[in-house]
Amino acid sequence: MTDTPRTFGQQLGRRSWAEPWKIKMVEPLHMTDRAARERALADAGYNTFLLRSRDVYIDLLTDSGTNAMSDRQWAGMMVGDEAYAGSENFYHLEDAIHRYYGYEHLVPTHQGRGAENLISRTAITPGQFVPGNMYFTTTRLHQEMAGGTFVDMIVDEAHDPQDRSDFKGNIDLAKLDALVKREGAARIAYISLGATVNMAGGQPVSMANVKALRSWCDTHKVRLFLDATRAVENAFFIQEREAGYANKKVAEILKEFCSYTDGAWMSAKKDSLVNIGGWVAVNEFALFEELRNLVVVFEGLHTYGGLAGRDMEAMAIGIGESVQDDYIRSRIGQVRYLGRLLEEWGIPMMEPIGGHAIFLDARRFYPQLTQDQFPAQTLAAELYLDSGIRAMERGIVSAGRDARTGDHNRPKLELTRLTIPRRVYTQAHMDVVAESVKAIFDQRDKVTGLKLNYEPKYLRFFQARFEPI
Ligand code: F0G
Repeated sequence: MTDTPRTFGQQLGRRSWAEPWKIKMVEPLHMTDRAARERALADAGYNTFLLRSRDVYIDLLTDSGTNAMSDRQWAGMMVGDEAYAGSENFYHLEDAIHRYYGYEHLVPTHQGRGAENLISRTAITPGQFVPGNMYFTTTRLHQEMAGGTFVDMIVDEAHDPQDRSDFKGNIDLAKLDALVKREGAARIAYISLGATVNMAGGQPVSMANVKALRSWCDTHKVRLFLDATRAVENAFFIQEREAGYANKKVAEILKEFCSYTDGAWMSAKKDSLVNIGGWVAVNEFALFEELRNLVVVFEGLHTYGGLAGRDMEAMAIGIGESVQDDYIRSRIGQVRYLGRLLEEWGIPMMEPIGGHAIFLDARRFYPQLTQDQFPAQTLAAELYLDSGIRAMERGIVSAGRDARTGDHNRPKLELTRLTIPRRVYTQAHMDVVAESVKAIFDQRDKVTGLKLNYEPKYLRFFQARFEPI
């Protein structure tokens, strides 16, 4: 292999991707033995979402709300202005979003799905289509609950884990044209653009693509909204891969990217280095007025949106930290470090390595299993049994059922996500993760899959229960 972790650091003009911070406070981890893990997993119905965190050693369930905050953010928590209305921290947050994302009008929410609810209810008329670049679970559900139909317009490469294209998150404009031809532009609510694309393996969208979408939207009089949850990570990939951006700062790239969109919703629990928070921000005043009115029904007054003042302060500071080039380079550097160890051992995964996680390709990991035997769920269970490492299914269980036919949605991608929290684990933890994945890969022939024995109505992956076949 030519592109080792060390040379990746050197390409960036330094010896390594080492973190631009040191550790000031530590939190003990829980070590467990195999017998305890077997009991815990059976109690959890073989669903890693139902494990207690005390039974988990290295927690790679999600990068959502699991970030470590900086000393500056913790100091910010102490200056929380807990006024019901007009908290000073709200204005700090508004300034940060205006400065780094560029949008005019802000409505805070308790987390991303609160923002998805508001934008879906205000911008979708029942019966309309919402084209986007691969679904996200909560995003699509809110679009459906508002009477919309999500349609996937991502480039075909995104569905192939072995395709190594640079921007596998892009929207295919030919697919958009075909939709307009078939249904008419008036039946399109807005374009739902995610950057990076979580379910596609954290794959980025190019600046060229968002520019082309802007002019497409202008032609067809359709709005373009961004899911900005991991847009800073997306900006890093543009800096690294797209012509003309190598010498621009990530912060500049982020702002340019957002400038082609009409607004965004955000789960700040990812990029923004906090444990809770979200927002929706738009440029159009009339739409803002509707959002600002609706937020009081679902979240809280429009100057806190379900958050404490201290949470808004931590978010405002976290946004500023998240766009620093040194920080984001080390963030993605750590994800790649893990990915490259696994690559060297021939472990099948989504390529190229994306922004927030390594996505193991469960179809190639367990070729003996059909998709109805839940290979990605099985892989997450086996990893937990081996070492207490917690991963997440991103395959047929996450895809849910077709709202009309009731059958499983059967995504091409059947992935198990090893999601890396920001500023939390060390390089040695990544080594342990890689060793455990290798251990279960070596035992892969013995595995027989799972069957579903309980399934809730909404977002089933969170609470479904399984048993071994
Ligand atoms: N959009 C994207 C792209 C997300 O990844 C998430 C959450 C949301 C919206 C919803 O935000 O959780 O704050 O309500 N993703 C988490 C994950 C849950 O683990 O990927 P939320």
